[in-house]
Amino acid sequence: MSVSPVVPHHIAIVMDGNGRWATRRFLPRLAGHKQGVDSLRRCARACVQRGVCVLTVFAFSSENWNRPADEVSGLMELLAMALAREVPQLKKDGVRLHFVGERDSLSPKVQNGLAQAEAATADNTSLVLNVCFNYGGRWDIAQAAASLAARGEPITEASLHSAMGLAHVPDPDLVIRTGGEMRISNFLLWQSAYSEFFFSDRLWPDFDESALDEAIDAFSRRERRFGKTSEQILSAHPDPMPG
Ligand code: IPE
Ligand code: IPE
Ligand code: MG
Repeated sequence: MSVSPVVPHHIAIVMDGNGRWATRRFLPRLAGHKQGVDSLRRCARACVQRGVCVLTVFAFSSENWNRPADEVSGLMELLAMALAREVPQLKKDGVRLHFVGERDSLSPKVQNGLAQAEAATADNTSLVLNVCFNYGGRWDIAQAAASLAARGEPITEASLHSAMGLAHVPDPDLVIRTGGEMRISNFLLWQSAYSEFFFSDRLWPDFDESALDEAIDAFSRRERRFGKTSEQILSAHPDPMPG
């Protein structure tokens, strides 16, 4: 008997490996980033089909400014182009876009594009797609603490959580990193406290539906204990009887 896997409510992905995908084909790195946009479109659709409610992706880190200037400017252009091209379809597909990250250092054109994409998709309900752009987990914690301090509010776990970039969604159940590296690279430091991690050797442009299903399947076989014992978890949720 095949048992259908437990689908995570919220999946977060470090979309890594675009540069290597391109270099292996003797293409400029930006060609890999373009292919990465196609992979994200496919992944978002697959998440809707599988009943995932929230998808959060890491698109540009606080540290990615340190890359060669032409790659950085290419990524900014690609974001603006992808917004113009993808938003009408995302709107039809019921995807609600949120951008998470520091916006002030982005160009006015990109800032406007982000705000317009969020406004255009604000009523959608099939999938929340959080795009972490100019994002770092340390930035997120520090900006949350700074905004609480500026308002004279006490700093607690709950108040910090509500001042952070992903306050509108529950924490990720599953964090996937493609590209074979086993590190967090300053992604969701606060929110991934109890996430399950899945590392895939596939480069992001090659991460297709079957790779997503493999990650979901692995997730569904994990025992999430949140500090409790296995016995406590099993007595609260005994395995359903077969049949
Ligand atoms: C991830 O792919 C996308 C960004 C960081 C913008 P990379 O560009 O890091 O690809 P690799 O790791 O060099 O292959
Ligand atoms: C993490 O990938 C950031 C994104 C995927 C946007 P990097 O390629 O920047 O991470 P490192 O430098 O290998 O840790
Ligand atoms: Mg990388």
